Amino acid sequence: MGIVESLQNRRSYYNIKKELPFEESEVIELIKKLTELVPDAFNMKSSRVVVALGEKQERLWDAAYEAFEGEVPKKKIDGFRAGAGTVLYFYDNQIVENMQSQFPLYKDNFPVWASQSSGMLQISVWSGLRELGIGASLQHYNPVIDENVQKLFDLPESYRLVAQMPFGGIVEEPEAKEKEDISKRVQIEK
Ligand SMILES: Cc1cc2nc3c(=O)[nH]c(=O)nc-3n(C[C@H](O)[C@H](O)[C@H](O)COP(=O)(O)O)c2cc1C
Repeated sequence: MGIVESLQNRRSYYNIKKELPFEESEVIELIKKLTELVPDAFNMKSSRVVVALGEKQERLWDAAYEAFEGEVPKKKIDGFRAGAGTVLYFYDNQIVENMQSQFPLYKDNFPVWASQSSGMLQISVWSGLRELGIGASLQHYNPVIDENVQKLFDLPESYRLVAQMPFGGIVEEPEAKEKEDISKRVQIEK
């Protein structure tokens, strides 16, 4: 599958289930491979990924619900909990700080670059999962859930949570998108 088709098939899937069309091990291999392949500024390798599966997947979303103290509807959280797993995206701030002290002129850029590289990884995994017939969405319950997540997975304090990607078997396809006049956003100059 080429990149255009892959990105075309990637959508936000909110109606997901635990049953996957592929073995869990294939999903794990895919995420590992993509984490290795996605570039980072100065090749600093700042991205960190935690894949929550099985009981940890359910405990993650229970912890997220608790962190919001009822401010997010249980039904919404349960929609993510219903998936087979969640990919948690972080960057390691220890690496960012090391780079900042080595290259002080670019100091302010490093956290931005770390987030950008995480975004590159997110779109790669999101599309890669869809190539396996697995639906996912992108969520941002950070920073409210940060402390609960750090405790649940016993993570280093330097990990900064960037995004959460619940995934699972596809129960329902999202509605088709409206056609866009892309010339309003892409300007070609010669
Ligand atoms: C940087 C970024 C942040 C997003 N944050 C959220 C989010 O917090 N919750 C959510 O449900 N969707 C989130 N989305 C998904 C977008 O709303 C969605 O991709 C967009 O509306 C297009 O729909 P599609 O994914 O079905 O193509 C985010 C997407 C991006 C790229």
